[in-house]
Amino acid sequence: MKLASWLKSNGISARDFAARIGTTEATISRLKNARAQPSFELAEKILEATAGAVTPNDFLKRTSSADATPSGDTSGLRVLLIIAGGIAAYKSLDLIRRLRERDTQVRVVITRAGQAFVTPLSVGAIAGTAPYTDLFDPRTEFDVGHIRLARDNDVVVVAPATADLMAKLAHGHADDLATAVLLATNSPVLLAPAMNPQMWAHPATQRNAQRLTDDGAVLVGPNEGEMAEVNEAGVGRMAEVPEILAAVERVAKPFGSKVLAGKHVIITSGPTHEPIDPVRYIANRSSGKQGHAIAQAAARSGARVTLVTGPVDIPDPSGVATIHVESAEDMLEAVTSALPADIAIFAAAVADWRTQKKVAQKMKKQADTKKMKLTLVQNPDILKTVAKGSDRPEFVIGFAAETENVIKAAKAKRRAKGCDWLVANDVGHARGVMGGDVNAVHLVTETGVEDWPEMGKHKVAERLIRRIADHLATDKETA
Ligand SMILES: Cc1cc2nc3c(=O)[nH]c(=O)nc-3n(C[C@H](O)[C@H](O)[C@H](O)COP(=O)(O)O)c2cc1C
Repeated sequence: MKLASWLKSNGISARDFAARIGTTEATISRLKNARAQPSFELAEKILEATAGAVTPNDFLKRTSSADATPSGDTSGLRVLLIIAGGIAAYKSLDLIRRLRERDTQVRVVITRAGQAFVTPLSVGAIAGTAPYTDLFDPRTEFDVGHIRLARDNDVVVVAPATADLMAKLAHGHADDLATAVLLATNSPVLLAPAMNPQMWAHPATQRNAQRLTDDGAVLVGPNEGEMAEVNEAGVGRMAEVPEILAAVERVAKPFGSKVLAGKHVIITSGPTHEPIDPVRYIANRSSGKQGHAIAQAAARSGARVTLVTGPVDIPDPSGVATIHVESAEDMLEAVTSALPADIAIFAAAVADWRTQKKVAQKMKKQADTKKMKLTLVQNPDILKTVAKGSDRPEFVIGFAAETENVIKAAKAKRRAKGCDWLVANDVGHARGVMGGDVNAVHLVTETGVEDWPEMGKHKVAERLIRRIADHLATDKETA
């Protein structure tokens, strides 16, 4: 059913529906009037909100072609496909064809075992370019070609992903072209496992799959069904080509297009450490996971990103200029040096206080001193300084970590700090937000409060970036 018809028959306005799924009224109007297609994720939300009445297919422009397989808009992407040695490798030929039909640049690496299933000749003929097979090929390695191969793409897809290749990747091996490229890439990695059900169910494979997911790879499938071997069925079948295409779109184009291209975004993340003496400091439980996820999402949306982070135990996001700082004063200095910017998002949990005295030597415990007094002074307010400063970015977002009266405090803070939006979250200890992987936030804007359901911090990041892009685009339209 068309979205417009569904809204009409249910008596729901575009505005209410937009609020329900966390987008803008302008976006819903564009979708209603078939002037735009939703991203995969937005289509999913609409599907959910309409209880399956409005499906992703309802947005597609129909073509007369017999094969109008709609899913997976991979157009404009540069895909590096790795074909490993599994029977499902024959399906990868079709995957290459479908990618090319969608104006997608495809380059292919075939493992040694993969060449027992598909030949470089047939892969090259379908891909329109010769596949890469050898790490030590002097024709491509004269300028360390495997690093170029790892970098010059938007997504690396492994289909089929064998048990063996997953084991190697989970353990950081790099003894052939496929694994060296997978280790060297900073692009998102999508794996389509395909193997015998016993192999898939084996605890070693399950451990490796979990490890790879924890490392940030995305898995599509495997599905349940008949295997190529006679009388073998179960979970282990490679995902079908349309599913892989949809997953490629989801992974490589989380925003549909480079929605923040040309923008400079400054993001702060993590805690700050305020020294008491050379060995002790005041800190908080922030892990930096949310701020780093926002930086990653902003970079994937095409923005130039400067991330200013306090001390954290997580890696720098790829494609982001990361500046490491310790204290609130350092963070403010790094942020102001990175200006001007179009957008600033202050997700760091900056310590409100620092010790008044800078002590050069470790403070010793005195046997007769039962109490110890530290005099604290207020740290600079980074959000307020930037939001009210002369070099203010066009759009400024603050974060508020609260343990009580979250919304009330957030509304007051938005006004007091002079930021455009405020993302509030309840960081009470029982909720496990600080350091955890999920977050349930409230977005306080100039017009109201949106309560977002609990979701992974990466999802919060993507949704926030999309929301910012939609807002700026609507602003431009109405200007
Ligand atoms: C006929 C045949 C079919 C195979 N099918 C699969 C498979 O579907 N999935 C898998 O993980 N391994 C499969 N294997 C085993 C892999 O080919 C083997 O583990 C190889 O070392 C994988 O190398 P690669 O990961 O470097 O491509 C198969 C082997 C043979 C001989």
